[in-house]
Amino acid sequence: MLAAGKGTRMKSQVPKVLHRISGFALVERVLRTAEAVSPATITLVVGHGADEVKAVLAGSRQTLQFVVQEQQLGTGHALLQTRALLEGKQGVVVLLSGDVPLLTGNTLRSLIETHANCKAAATVVTAEMPRPFGYGRIVRTSGRISKIVEERDASPAQRKITEINSGIYAFDLAPLFGALDSIGTANNQGEYYLPDLVAIYRKQKRTVATWTVDRAEEIRGINSRTELAEVSSMVRQQKNEELMAAGVTLIDPATTYIDSDVVVGADTVIHPCVFLEGSTKIGAACEIHAGSRIVNSTLGDRVCVRNHTVVTDSTVESGSFLGPFAHIRPGSQIGEDVHIGNFVELKKTAIGKGAKANHLAYLGDATIGSATNVGAGTITCNYDGEKKHQTVIGNNVFVGSNSTLVAPVKLADGAYIAAGSAVTQDVPAGALGIGRARQENKEGWREKRRQKSSA
Ligand code: UD1
Ligand code: MG
Repeated sequence: MLAAGKGTRMKSQVPKVLHRISGFALVERVLRTAEAVSPATITLVVGHGADEVKAVLAGSRQTLQFVVQEQQLGTGHALLQTRALLEGKQGVVVLLSGDVPLLTGNTLRSLIETHANCKAAATVVTAEMPRPFGYGRIVRTSGRISKIVEERDASPAQRKITEINSGIYAFDLAPLFGALDSIGTANNQGEYYLPDLVAIYRKQKRTVATWTVDRAEEIRGINSRTELAEVSSMVRQQKNEELMAAGVTLIDPATTYIDSDVVVGADTVIHPCVFLEGSTKIGAACEIHAGSRIVNSTLGDRVCVRNHTVVTDSTVESGSFLGPFAHIRPGSQIGEDVHIGNFVELKKTAIGKGAKANHLAYLGDATIGSATNVGAGTITCNYDGEKKHQTVIGNNVFVGSNSTLVAPVKLADGAYIAAGSAVTQDVPAGALGIGRARQENKEGWREKRRQKSSA
């Protein structure tokens, strides 16, 4: 896979192939496509931003190896960099481009099949493009491919050709590196053009085959932010269609943003402007309301996520309600039939079956039992300025409104905390914990004050 180019038109500090579509870097998408044909090895030619690309992919797969193309002298030169790794081996090299993320495994299978059936030295994936500007054109004589000419080197007649080179090929390994050596730089850009291999092979009387994709979109490359957005929208649309076909209701697919690996169960209803990201799994018959974002989280069945709720790296069991405006931060585990209401924030907190925290609370580093009620304004003071501490709340506890639970602290099963308490000591099972100044009423105080001030 060629991934050494700078991607000048992206105007980016980030290497082009690390730009993301629906949760995955472009290069990751192409790698997944490559894996559809179970290659023995995958060799990535990196150059611009080589270290960053390597760092992102390091250890992701055993089959992956890297070569660095120090200077980008053209696609022919790029493929030559793999010589030390591939020369002398037998079989087929499929050449892919790191910036062509819509390519499918089916196309690769067809390419390899055609290549084998034709016993070709090279097979070129081509496409029909009504507006072929910028692409290399497939020149045929008596119906057979004779060469590829780049836009800049093409004659006016050749520019009219609408069959284009996708930049994706299969090569028989045996003659490949010898032929690559004979590619020159006598062209408009002074680069080593890999497509020149076609004419070289034809001169050597070797077979060059072609395979034409049905949908030209599939071989679209990404060169600019506009193309990134266009292709992103195509990827999203396809994901949305798959989900709808599987029984998910999307109120407005155009404004629903679901990453490629996300799973959603049937009869779940997803409202506009919802983002489901990463490895998120949503069960059946859930309802996710507008403005919510769920990242790397698992939701059971019949979960209702009300508007503008954010859930990250957490699990929510069946039948629970979240939001509106709830913030479920990483490491939270919400049990069955739990109610988390508006302006409630959870962090690394487990909350048991049927428990409720309906309004305005911060629950961090806490374990909360089943059927417990956490009143409005309850805060776990989990941080003493140096360390984080745990709050452990049992089953069927009642935490009165506006309580501050100063961790580490335990409220045993059935404990009852008076509203407005600052709880600094453990509360035994079934006990009432009151941690506030007792109220005092002074009879007739107001009238006495009035008399005093008028005297
Ligand atoms: C290339 C083809 C063209 C084809 C088009 C399809 C050549 C000369 N032309 O043109 O026929 O229609 O793709 O998109 O091959 N790269 C390197 N090292 C280099 C040069 C390029 O790794 O020295 C990589 C780029 O990062 C990119 C790919 O090779 O991923 C294609 O290079 P690019 O410069 O985009 O070629 P095109 O002009 O698009
Ligand atoms: Mg290109």
